Amino acid sequence: MTESNVNKIKNSFLKDAENVKDLKSLEQVRVKYLGRKGELTAILRSLKNLPIQERRRVAPKAQQLKKELEETITKKQKELSTFNFQHSVLSIDVTKPGHKIKIGHIHPLSKIEEEIRHVFLSMNFSVVEGPEIENEYYNFDALNIPKDHPARDGWNTFWLKAQTDAEQTQRAAEKIPRNSASSPRKSALLLRTHTSPMQIHYMKNHQPPFQIIVPGRVFRYEATDASHETTFSQMEGLMVGKDVSLANFKFIIEHFLKKLFGSEIEFELRPSYYPFTEPSVDVYMKWRGKWLEVAGAGMVHPKVFEAVGYNPYEWQGFAFGFGLNRLAMIKYKIPDIRLFYNGDLRFIRQF
Ligand code: DAH
Repeated sequence: MTESNVNKIKNSFLKDAENVKDLKSLEQVRVKYLGRKGELTAILRSLKNLPIQERRRVAPKAQQLKKELEETITKKQKELSTFNFQHSVLSIDVTKPGHKIKIGHIHPLSKIEEEIRHVFLSMNFSVVEGPEIENEYYNFDALNIPKDHPARDGWNTFWLKAQTDAEQTQRAAEKIPRNSASSPRKSALLLRTHTSPMQIHYMKNHQPPFQIIVPGRVFRYEATDASHETTFSQMEGLMVGKDVSLANFKFIIEHFLKKLFGSEIEFELRPSYYPFTEPSVDVYMKWRGKWLEVAGAGMVHPKVFEAVGYNPYEWQGFAFGFGLNRLAMIKYKIPDIRLFYNGDLRFIRQF
């Protein structure tokens, strides 16, 4: 090991360092000279074997070279990192189309429900929800639709079999005639056919005056087609007070429909029939030149007030029921009600 070795290493290192183009090859150069088996490392290790005179001459040079090499490598490292950064920034093509980020979608029924809640909350209505499994008393009897009433045909019902059987056994054991009036405790279970049973639940537990809406899913035992489904959504409304009138209903519903569909819509009330309202009306809305039925409604029937223990001579109110699917179909131009629940993502992704 001599001075000339040290100089040779220095020259060959400088040459190698000059050719380095990236951090990876720089690391290779570092290992070649300063690694555990590196050329300079070998010299530094062998110093102790040199005669003392020679060691005194070579050692400082070798140490000095080590320092130089380390400095050069650090400097190069910095240069190359900055270069890499600039290089990658410059290589971004801002005119290239971006990658679309996949995000979730809000179901049209959730969307319309949210909008409707908003409008009614702004008119000081409260939003309440109720059970999807009901019993015959709340779904029918208390709403003035007794057993064997022809109006029950309007609500094709999913009866819950296990419960009906149990109910039948119980009725047989207690020798209750089939057509006797049901009470809330002994009543067959069913999937609610409308949100109206929540009128009964709410009135039994609250005193007027109040105004509520009840959004929720309902079920009908029906053949499906473009406008009929076994599962759909409704929104019930109920306002009770000392002098709540049909005129109040008309005002509120007009405000609601105009908020939802725009102020240019026309609407009208037509006479109808529901066992739980008297008088009863249907709400029609003129949309793109056509009259469409959007809700059933009316003044709460005295029998309904009696069923919940209100004095019908003291209280009066209106009730209404909208089909949410219907409103969504009109608003978002959805041609077939079966699209809502068939789970096709191509449908949902449009919202
Ligand atoms: N429950 C009725 C249905 O499902 C809709 C309805 C009509 C609700 C009149 C009401 C009402 O509250 O007053 O067809």
